[in-house]
Amino acid sequence: MTVLWSRADLEAATSGRFPSSGAGVIAGTGVSIDTRTLQPGDVFIALIGENSNGHAHAAAALAAGAAAVVAHEPCGDDPRILKVEDTLAALQGMARFARARFAGRMLAVTGSVGKTSVKDMLHAALGACGPTHCAVASYNNHWGVPLTLARLPAASAYCVCEIGMNHPGEIAPLAAMVRPDVAVVTTVAASHLGLMGSIDAIAQEKAELLLALPAGGIGVIPAGIAGNTHFERNATHVGAMLWRVGTTPECTARADDVAQDAHGSTFSLTLPGWRGVARVNAPGRHMAENAMLALAAAHAAGADMGRAVAGLATFRPGAGRGALAKVMHDNVALLDESYNASPASVRAALDLLGLVATGRRIAVLGDMLELGTFARHEHASLLPAVRANADAVFCCGPNMKILFDSLPPALRGAWAPDSTTLAPLVRAGLRAGDTVMVKGSLGSRMRHVVAALQADDAPVGPA
Ligand SMILES: Nc1ncnc2c1ncn2[C@@H]1O[C@H](COP(=O)(O)OP(=O)(O)OP(=O)(O)O)[C@@H](O)[C@H]1O
Ligand SMILES: [Mg+2]
Repeated sequence: MTVLWSRADLEAATSGRFPSSGAGVIAGTGVSIDTRTLQPGDVFIALIGENSNGHAHAAAALAAGAAAVVAHEPCGDDPRILKVEDTLAALQGMARFARARFAGRMLAVTGSVGKTSVKDMLHAALGACGPTHCAVASYNNHWGVPLTLARLPAASAYCVCEIGMNHPGEIAPLAAMVRPDVAVVTTVAASHLGLMGSIDAIAQEKAELLLALPAGGIGVIPAGIAGNTHFERNATHVGAMLWRVGTTPECTARADDVAQDAHGSTFSLTLPGWRGVARVNAPGRHMAENAMLALAAAHAAGADMGRAVAGLATFRPGAGRGALAKVMHDNVALLDESYNASPASVRAALDLLGLVATGRRIAVLGDMLELGTFARHEHASLLPAVRANADAVFCCGPNMKILFDSLPPALRGAWAPDSTTLAPLVRAGLRAGDTVMVKGSLGSRMRHVVAALQADDAPVGPA
């Protein structure tokens, strides 16, 4: 196993010191912030969380085989404990150190929706071209980004980081740590609108990522992105190129002949100096657009596109992000979109329902959260997309009540205050051959509805 962190490198990266008494070899092969998932050989960083203090687990980490513990509170005198000023700052120091010694191509992905999907598509595409290091899950915040970098093997060919944001000012410091060669912005849309205030403010924040590009670096954005001038200004400011991805002739990366089916999309793609046909095995226009961005970014990073296209074909959507499965008796199909929701992703999921359903189209929608004073408007304005793509609608939560009450009576399935109460109502309203799409913010717990449908193998209809 590759050694990521030696004694000298850990001290240099964190400005910390091991006790002078212990001169033994330190050979960290990984980095952990959680003893429940710690692997022997990991360097354990004792972070302070909202409801937890890693220092309380330092002894457990060492007992589980940690190569070292990084700590700023007293937690024993083991010679493997590296004393630092502040553990989060130490993790960030390790991230900068690992970034500095990395000679491969660095890619960063931000956007209102689609970050993890594009990051995982890049993982599949670039992984077919050379050793590729990627963020685990959605590790995209003030500890997730440095943790991803601190785990980066110096000899990787590619690294893909996901960068997220809930508040203004979050992207710039993370982008400066990542220092991407290729920066992808998937979308600018109303997510976290409550804290950001406007779509323009969101675009301005996302465009901060481009300021971390070097001269000659490449920004990859959808052709129709909102707040375009922010991206142009920032790319020009640092001397980076801007690649626009879309279906119109002036795009740098142009997709043609986009053919969608229930399991994915096929399209031809024209990039600077390359042309070919690609397939993504995740249904929906939004996943096709994500795939176009991922391939454009892979090309921008210098990947062998024959291999990248073959690699992309192995991508599958993550849990709760649009996989289609048959569930229950009577041929009921489930589109599990329960992972999370924002106005853009609910519209994408409704389109997907319209695309893949063979029988009746049933939409089950829980509240979209973090929209602040825009919540009423954003829920109400889903009506046209719902009318176009659903034959019956089940809703839960106070915000979705606004949408539910505006539905024509023929579309109204049922409304309930929460997902647990809604689940049996959905089940009772189903008929053989229906396709059910379940979506809502994580906090709306729509997975209860998914679990209830998956667990129930009785014939559909009223129990
Ligand atoms: N380009 C897109 N347009 C609209 N919806 C999308 C797009 N890409 C993905 N989605 C949908 O948005 C939801 C979240 O997708 P994904 O996890 O890729 O986004 P994310 O930006 O990483 O989210 P998070 O902020 O939670 O990390 C899923 O339901 C997915 O199907
Ligand atoms: Mg994510």
